[in-house]
Amino acid sequence: MLLKSAGFILLICTLFGCEAAQVERHDVRKFPEGFQFGTSTASYQIEGSWNVDGKAENIWDHMTHNNPCVIADCSNGDVACDSYNQYKRDVEMMRELGIDFYRFSLSWPRILPTSFPDYISEPGSQYYSNLIDELLKYNIEPVVTLYHWDLPQKLQEMGGWTNPHIVDWFADYARVAFTLYGDRVKHWITINEPREVCYQGYGANTKAPALNIKGVADYMCVKNLLLAHAKAYHIFDQEFRPKLNGSIFIALSAQFYEPETEKEIVAAKEANQFEWGIYAHPIFSDTGDYPPIVKEKVAAKSAEQGFFRSRLPEFTPEEVDYVKGTSDYFGLNHYTTFLVYRNESVAGMYDVPSMYDDLGNVHYQPSEWEYGAASVNMRVVPWGFYKLLALIREDFNNPPVFITENGYATFTGLDDTSTRISYLRQYLSALLDAIDEGSDVRAYSLWSLMDNFEWMFGYNSRFGLYEVNFSDPARPRTPRKSAFMYKQMLRTRALDWHYEPDTTVMTIDEGH
Ligand SMILES: *[C@@H]1O[C@H](CO)[C@@H](O)[C@H](O)[C@H]1NC(C)=O
Ligand SMILES: *[C@@H]1O[C@H](CO)[C@@H](O)[C@H](O)[C@H]1NC(C)=O
Ligand SMILES: *[C@@H]1O[C@H](CO)[C@@H](O)[C@H](O)[C@H]1NC(C)=O
Repeated sequence: MLLKSAGFILLICTLFGCEAAQVERHDVRKFPEGFQFGTSTASYQIEGSWNVDGKAENIWDHMTHNNPCVIADCSNGDVACDSYNQYKRDVEMMRELGIDFYRFSLSWPRILPTSFPDYISEPGSQYYSNLIDELLKYNIEPVVTLYHWDLPQKLQEMGGWTNPHIVDWFADYARVAFTLYGDRVKHWITINEPREVCYQGYGANTKAPALNIKGVADYMCVKNLLLAHAKAYHIFDQEFRPKLNGSIFIALSAQFYEPETEKEIVAAKEANQFEWGIYAHPIFSDTGDYPPIVKEKVAAKSAEQGFFRSRLPEFTPEEVDYVKGTSDYFGLNHYTTFLVYRNESVAGMYDVPSMYDDLGNVHYQPSEWEYGAASVNMRVVPWGFYKLLALIREDFNNPPVFITENGYATFTGLDDTSTRISYLRQYLSALLDAIDEGSDVRAYSLWSLMDNFEWMFGYNSRFGLYEVNFSDPARPRTPRKSAFMYKQMLRTRALDWHYEPDTTVMTIDEGH
């Protein structure tokens, strides 16, 4: 822990590394007036009831049923946290924590079993209506993600995000959702983590549908996904915003890529551009379109390899304008940081073609960086969060930022003092440092309310403020120590490095 009695050991970072320095600083740091706190979840990870009330199959149902052991513990989301039945307990937990908003996602094939708006499932759509009502009853603002990875399997069979028709399929689904819930839901997120959708799902095999068609399918997905997002934005902006007010934005996953040494500044810049700038630049930059360096590198490699055009499908000038400016917040999911260097001979290191071959560098995490408890690749690097927020502020005219995800995985166990609590204190302190320097961060949503189906890690990797017992059919939820710490932070609107909670009994404060 970065803690000393008189003040803090603060990591002072320059481009060339970080060193600890003793600084005078209050142990209790206030969040700005109006700053909002919440927790995040996603439909497939918590709901279960995968085939109940007419819900159709999604790509995660399909993959986990047909090839169970692609998941670390050979599990699936058939039951998960059983939130389809236990949403009232979920809301009760939010009242215990005292959160301002709840970020959750809708299951497309639960609302539209045919994938299309010709048939809206009564019970499927009612589920979310009930959840929204339960939240509003206790003044918890719903923040709704339209797409958090559970694409209808039928659409996947027609190419999924590589089929340009998905722009209309997604827009139709978005319009249905705005119509069903727009009377009560003010804040909408179009798509969660485009990088994980396109790169991991289409360019690799680390998320469904695990196509692993590198350097081709992933780039086809990028263009269609951005156009689908933009179309949903424009529908909301033109037809619903005038009546509903509210906001709509995209949640990008951005890890931070730091140069290993001074001579690697360009390599790190390019890594940030390929990994998340490819989604951020078209939406948040003044010029729009993909980052120029990404276009140039993919086009050059494609030509070298004998392709007749760039593997990254280009936007027309009309499309550039259509996508530019289509997000009310910079939604940011952030967990960790990597060091980057250029290796002139990446030949043999990566598949050809592939995004990483196009990019042509190497990233890693030094072994001396603090481990994530349940994931070696999730090392604790709070200064990376600070630098990422500074980069977003500088590159995109200081947009309002909504932290849509940040959190830490452990294994089972309720005492997470030296793991999750330590991580949260350090990352929230880094966030406050960025705010002090002018970053316009408005909200923070912790991943996650409770343990849930953590994709390829199954139920091994636990991100919850509440522990869920997945061996018990009743799926009981028990607050971890971090739940008490988060509750105190929300109560005081301040980060207190020394707070030691009494974890004997969790109650609901008056007014919640
Ligand atoms: C819309 O919301 C903003 C911010 O919440 C508020 O200031 C404004 O008065 C609202 N406008 C309408 C028409 O409700
Ligand atoms: C650079 O790439 C070559 C070719 O794949 C590889 O053998 C070598 O280990 C890499 N060097 C470093 C420092 O990563
Ligand atoms: C989880 O539930 C199972 C089945 O009810 C029970 O045997 C086990 O003790 C529970 N584990 C914990 C940590 O409470």
